[in-house]
Amino acid sequence: MLLRGERLGEISGDVLEFISSRDADRQIFEADLLVDRAHLAMLKERGLIAAEEFSAIVAALDGIELAELGEGEDVHEAIEAELIARVGAVGGRMHTGRSRNDEVATCIRIVLRGELLGLMAEVNDLAEALVERAAENADTVIPGFTHLQHAQPTTLAHHLLAHADALLRDFDRLQDSCQRVNRSPLGAAAFASTGFDIDRKRTAELLGFEGLVENSMDAVSTRDFLLEALSASAILMVNASRLAEELILWSTSEFGYLELDDLFTSTSSIMPQKKNPDTAELIRGKTGTVFGSLVAALAIVKALPMSYNRDLQEATPNLWRGISTTRGAVRILTGAVSSAKFNKERLEAASGAGFSTATEIADSLVRKTKIPFRTAHQIVGALAAKGGTPAIEDLDEAAERIAKFRPSERGFGEEELAAALDPRRNVAVRSRIGGPAPEETKRMAADRRRR
Ligand code: ARG
Repeated sequence: MLLRGERLGEISGDVLEFISSRDADRQIFEADLLVDRAHLAMLKERGLIAAEEFSAIVAALDGIELAELGEGEDVHEAIEAELIARVGAVGGRMHTGRSRNDEVATCIRIVLRGELLGLMAEVNDLAEALVERAAENADTVIPGFTHLQHAQPTTLAHHLLAHADALLRDFDRLQDSCQRVNRSPLGAAAFASTGFDIDRKRTAELLGFEGLVENSMDAVSTRDFLLEALSASAILMVNASRLAEELILWSTSEFGYLELDDLFTSTSSIMPQKKNPDTAELIRGKTGTVFGSLVAALAIVKALPMSYNRDLQEATPNLWRGISTTRGAVRILTGAVSSAKFNKERLEAASGAGFSTATEIADSLVRKTKIPFRTAHQIVGALAAKGGTPAIEDLDEAAERIAKFRPSERGFGEEELAAALDPRRNVAVRSRIGGPAPEETKRMAADRRRR
């Protein structure tokens, strides 16, 4: 093998397999060739290799294919060996003033920034799908929950926009992490930079980086950029899994609020009637896989002394697994959300269930009769304990007992009670910033659509 030469005896079998990163390196093969070309162009510009040498090496690099690479403990060694096999010893000039340590860090950053941009586009698609479904449902009144108990009526638009806003924050986190990913470690060499008169800014520019990871020791040893990308992905998956969980719950016969398109479901090998929400369940499950990737990477890089340590190689596959799992989950979720059929009749019918208009009765009592909110809360709480839909006589009786007055004698009569019991009215009056009233969710949907 290229690097061991006379320094070390040959390596093979289990040990070679154990230390090899060749499998995961498939991800960075193309990026490595880009890094090679940029580095070579810079060496030529700085007069560190001759123009003819540059041309011969680049021409040979152009013909190298992943499938044809021979042995080597990583893709960097294998490419260099193949290059030298093709152009002769002059190929050995390519590694002037660099190390695999800055090389691999550069490759990971190049591939990761592309992955992050792809993921951001997919998050954007999902947020957009939610906003579109919300815009169609500004007037669809649904039950709102706290503690998974009926709480207050809201609208489907309000609910879906809540998920969309979480995803827009995920977008921001990914974008923010991308800025720190997109910095070049190249030219840091092993860790101490180099005595060759290289130009780090030039290779950074050629490779489309927005600057350098300046300190050469930091540049080769940090993987905090990939921890950040994985953290943003893990948080995104928390949000995706919350949405997936509701798709699962809402498509049970107990809820019956929605039906997933057939494409996103599976059946049973024994129970012919089954339509199971397998895609949503896998999004929920794969969230665990992404957490695992993050935790594995955190644990691998923690407490590593300066500067490069081979442990770092072990973190990289977790990055690719975490990011690609996240991308797949977001893409599938977009399809499931776009094609789901909401059962509006059932949603509307359930919107007043569990005495979910109780808060509005208390609020209306306060507005009409000027009693303190806590007093109204106690009166309506007594109605809730009694059960059933309250009549004005029940309200008068409870208020008399608790606060020595009769609401019907203070302008809160049958008509006012009926209005407070109407879920649609509950929603209409909640028109403050961020509330479920149709005019407010329409405003929010338009604003998110612009974003
Ligand atoms: N495959 C290695 C990695 O992923 C490349 C760098 C190897 N450097 C070294 N000094 N052994 O980290």
